[in-house]
Amino acid sequence: MSQGFLALILAAGKGTRFKSERIKVLHPLLGKSMLRLVADSILGLKPQKVHVVVGYQKKEVMEEFKSGEVAFVTQKEQLGTAHAVLAAQRVLKRYRDKDVLVMNGDLPLVRTETLKPLLTLHRREKNALTFLSAELENPKGFGRIIRTAGVIRVIEERDASPSERKINEVNTGVYLFKIKDLLDALPKVSNQNKKGEFYLTDVTGIMAQEGKKIGYHKTKNAGEFVGVNSRYELAQAIDVLRERKIRSLTDKGATVLDPRTTWIDLDVKIGADTVIYPSVIIEGRSVIGRECRLYPFTHIRDSRLGNRVEILGSTMIVESVIEDEARVGPFSRVRPDSIIRKKAKVGNFVEMKSTVFGKKSKAMHLSYLGDCEIKDGVNVGAGTIACNYDGREKHKTLIEEEAFIGSGTELVAPVKIGKRAYIGAGSTITKNVSPDALAVSRSRQIEKKNWSRRKRKK
Ligand code: UD1
Ligand code: CA
Repeated sequence: MSQGFLALILAAGKGTRFKSERIKVLHPLLGKSMLRLVADSILGLKPQKVHVVVGYQKKEVMEEFKSGEVAFVTQKEQLGTAHAVLAAQRVLKRYRDKDVLVMNGDLPLVRTETLKPLLTLHRREKNALTFLSAELENPKGFGRIIRTAGVIRVIEERDASPSERKINEVNTGVYLFKIKDLLDALPKVSNQNKKGEFYLTDVTGIMAQEGKKIGYHKTKNAGEFVGVNSRYELAQAIDVLRERKIRSLTDKGATVLDPRTTWIDLDVKIGADTVIYPSVIIEGRSVIGRECRLYPFTHIRDSRLGNRVEILGSTMIVESVIEDEARVGPFSRVRPDSIIRKKAKVGNFVEMKSTVFGKKSKAMHLSYLGDCEIKDGVNVGAGTIACNYDGREKHKTLIEEEAFIGSGTELVAPVKIGKRAYIGAGSTITKNVSPDALAVSRSRQIEKKNWSRRKRKK
């Protein structure tokens, strides 16, 4: 337990440069918030406890976590990163003999692997402070690492001289402190700088002056430390994660034909030998089985697909289940709480909502099936509409095994169609139909001989 350490994530600032009503750290990247990503990478290091410094939109930030997963401290006013750490003073005092990992909440690309060497080095060198630096091609906006006469410290860009700004080695915003040394230095930080803020980075100068041992680890993965300060940087960060996700899926055996146009959220799982065509979007907690084919412009959210499922182009599926070997699309819309059973076929311009669609059943064209329970082997003809809504309430339609619904049928719910019953095309069905019966409800066809010819002669 002596190796145990505390972690502190700074997430109280609004993120003004984002120009958003929503706090910056809650903006999502492929289905996960920036803060969630930071927390996950820290949790991977197995700290004794993680504390998050909250302030702006505190309630929303706290809701990002499961209860007990992390603890919170409040920074009432956002007066700078040192001030944010000071907000955790009471907690820090409790863990006086330990180390604390402090990390900015706006570093969503950093992986656990990248943080590990910092921890190792800090322990080996027994430093008061070890920080993570990175060599960047474009260091704009970052604090720079300054070395003078063997002393190392960080200076913020705003306060740096033109020659100091030319330095490419930057402070990444990740630090490990011996808590007692941090507690000594924090009260000495002043806000006499261009921004009038209490900078955590000033702790480096203070510790250096007091002869404390400061070390650093220069990361090889500098690309993970783009500070996400603007919406454009957010888009760039998302692109890095997108690429990373596709790589991991392809490593596990999925085929992604065009990584550039494929969007797959971080929590999505895809089985081996599934083929993803260009311009497919899969969001949320979707799970796709093996050997599926998802054709262009498929959009899936929070859904589960079995094995060998085929989704033809321009189909949207939300919060639903598609079982093995079913085929859906092109141009189908499967709305929440639907289940399409094995080997069923759902074709173009078919919309479903809260519907269970049985094994080997077919609805190939132009239909609306809402609140239906459709058993196995049913044929739903073109243009069938389940009239599930009476203006006030929704009602159910039940279609038993192997029934045949003729084209252009309206099923006025609540209604039941028995096993193997037939519905004549163009019927409006308002009453239950018995098994094996034929139900037709339309006016009889009449024919007036030569009617058209007489009309033309008039
Ligand atoms: C900070 C560092 C800079 C470093 C860069 C790396 C300081 C003074 N500067 O700059 O050296 O190169 O990160 O990305 O630390 N926060 C609070 N309370 C506050 C202010 C900020 O919780 O009062 C939080 C923010 O929510 C954010 C994090 O601290 O998650 C960093 O703040 P930010 O304003 O983004 O710092 P940078 O200007 O990027
Ligand atoms: Ca930042």
